[in-house]
Amino acid sequence: MSSSRIAVFASGQGSNFAALIEAQRAGLLGEGSIELLVSDRPEAPVAQRAEAAGVPALLLRPKDFASRELYEAEIVAELQRRDIGLIVLAGYMRLITPVLLEPFAGRIINIHPSLLPAFAGKDAIGQAIGYGVKLTGVTVHFVDGGMDTGPVIAQRSVAVEAGDTAESLAQRIHGIEYALYPEVVRAFAAGKVELQGRQVIVRE
Ligand code: GRF
Repeated sequence: MSSSRIAVFASGQGSNFAALIEAQRAGLLGEGSIELLVSDRPEAPVAQRAEAAGVPALLLRPKDFASRELYEAEIVAELQRRDIGLIVLAGYMRLITPVLLEPFAGRIINIHPSLLPAFAGKDAIGQAIGYGVKLTGVTVHFVDGGMDTGPVIAQRSVAVEAGDTAESLAQRIHGIEYALYPEVVRAFAAGKVELQGRQVIVRE
C-alpha cells in the first residue's frame, strides 16, 4: 500500500478538495498524489470539481446498497484496485464502518472545524459561536469508529472576534483548513506521521 496514493472523500462543496488539488499543483503535497474522489452524493458540487481537475471519481449512493457495509465494500475494492494508501476525509458526512476502517487502519484522516474534543459533530462553527468561546480552530485527526474521536495529528487555533457570525468565523476557519490539511497530507505521504496509542508524532 503506498502512503502517497490518496483518495479524498467528500459529500458537499469540496472547497478543501479544491485546496488539496491546488496544493498538489503547487508542489506542496510532496510525494502525495490525489488519485480518486469518493462521494456519497453524486450531485454534490465536489463531483464537478473533480471532473474539472481531471481526477477520477467514484460516485455511489448508499441507498442503492442493501447495507452500509456493502456500500463500503464496493469502495474498498476500488481503493485496493488503485493501490490507495491514504484516505483524506474532507466534509464526508458519514460515519465509517469496520469494513473500511480495518483494511485502512491508521490510514484515514479527517479535518474538523473546531479544537477537538470541543464541538464534535455537526455545525462545529455554529456550536462555538453559540457557546461563546473566545478561541476555536481546526483539528486534523485520525479516524476511528466514533464521531470526531480519533487521535489528534495537528491543531491550529482561531480567535473568535466580537461581532463574529457563523459566516465570518467560518471564512477564517476555512482559510486555516486550506493551509493545514495539505501540510498534514504532505507529512503523511512522506511517511512522517506516526501513531503511538493516542499520541501522534509528526517528524520534521
Ligand atoms: C470543512 O469545514 C471541514 O472541516 C468539515 O466539513 C467542511 C467541508 O467543507 N469536515 P468543504 O466541502 O471542503 O467546502
